[in-house]
Amino acid sequence: MPRPTRTAPPPKGPAPVASAPTASPLPAGAPFTWRSESDEPSPARLHAVDDRLSADTALKRVRRGEFLLYSGDFHNAKQLLGALGRRLERASNARSPLEAFRAERRARQLEHETLSRIVVSLDRDYRLALARAPDVALACRQVWGEPATEFTVVPLKQLLGMLGAAEWRRKGLAVPGLTGLIHPHYGVYLPTRTDYVELLLSLPTLKGPRVFDVGTGTGVLSFLLLQRGAASVHATDCDSRAVACSRENAEQLGLRKSFQVTEADLFPPGKADLVVCNPPWIPEPPKNRVDRAVFDEDSQFLKRFLEGLSDALTPGGEGLLILSDLAVLLGLRPQGWLQEQITRCGLTVKWSKSTAARHAKAKDTSDPLHMARSRETTTLYCLTRAAT
Ligand SMILES: C[S@@+](CC[C@H](N)C(=O)[O-])C[C@H]1O[C@@H](n2cnc3c(N)ncnc32)[C@H](O)[C@@H]1O
Repeated sequence: MPRPTRTAPPPKGPAPVASAPTASPLPAGAPFTWRSESDEPSPARLHAVDDRLSADTALKRVRRGEFLLYSGDFHNAKQLLGALGRRLERASNARSPLEAFRAERRARQLEHETLSRIVVSLDRDYRLALARAPDVALACRQVWGEPATEFTVVPLKQLLGMLGAAEWRRKGLAVPGLTGLIHPHYGVYLPTRTDYVELLLSLPTLKGPRVFDVGTGTGVLSFLLLQRGAASVHATDCDSRAVACSRENAEQLGLRKSFQVTEADLFPPGKADLVVCNPPWIPEPPKNRVDRAVFDEDSQFLKRFLEGLSDALTPGGEGLLILSDLAVLLGLRPQGWLQEQITRCGLTVKWSKSTAARHAKAKDTSDPLHMARSRETTTLYCLTRAAT
């Protein structure tokens, strides 16, 4: 299963920040703000644990439904998460790519639910109540803003993801063909797979089209097109984090005047000469907020994008759709499905260009989905209105 954006490992480099003074732990019964990306309700009760807790005991207690509030050493807490994760690993005997995909997704969900029950508390200054803890305050402020209450409780796994994201945001990410760096925000789709970005580079230099970028994420496609001759981009994303992230990146890249972004479902109002879109590509229900970058239940996004494309284009305008065939290889979409949808929506493929997936997962033979991923192809389709 494609991994959600927050699981991307942080870039190599020095630790972002020095150790912070340990905060006072959450007193029993004290009110707190609960922060969970999975919309899991606030735990009714927290059970205090520390470094004496073994992974086997932790697993038993978590399986009983307990939330364990860790108050020992930060590095031991991280090791506990790793040990719990290893205890959950199991071989899959799936007989088809689809069975393997579903088993993998269930396993990842179970892992997420289990590990998310190891929680930590932060005080009013977002200091972590663990010995040898790094300073997490900036990462917390970037994602949540100022603390609302005296204490905040968060799954340690999520906090580690936030720290990794803060490091990406600080260092920035080089993207082939882009002058300048992309600074991704937590929870926003990371353009670390460069195969799809490189497809756009095969376009000839643009002659000043007005562009829509539907589902902009970090804004990477908009910025590539602006640097290659687009006159302006109006981008959208349904996630406020992507909107803030792309706006900040446009500013940092000196493209603020030609880049506009709106929090919206699919298209912005009006028409464009060029509409670019890299939609979520797995037609299965998202399980949380970050999943919406990858999972598109019943292909609703893709179908509605194709249905609306003609109306969003100026006469002679073109749509650029980037899509992986992983869903077909996994048996989640029949062969020929996309072409049927394109025809149904009164569109035609003017040209297309494909590339084999080169991301790390495509080469990982231990990945249960290796068979499908190693054959994955990503295609850039240039769509126009079909002649009537
Ligand atoms: C695969 S990511 C692509 C991000 C970026 N364009 C890129 O290529 O790196 C898909 C993006 O679509 C956004 N998205 C999902 N559903 C949407 C909707 N209904 N309307 C607008 N954006 C949506 C997600 O938040 C995510 O940022």
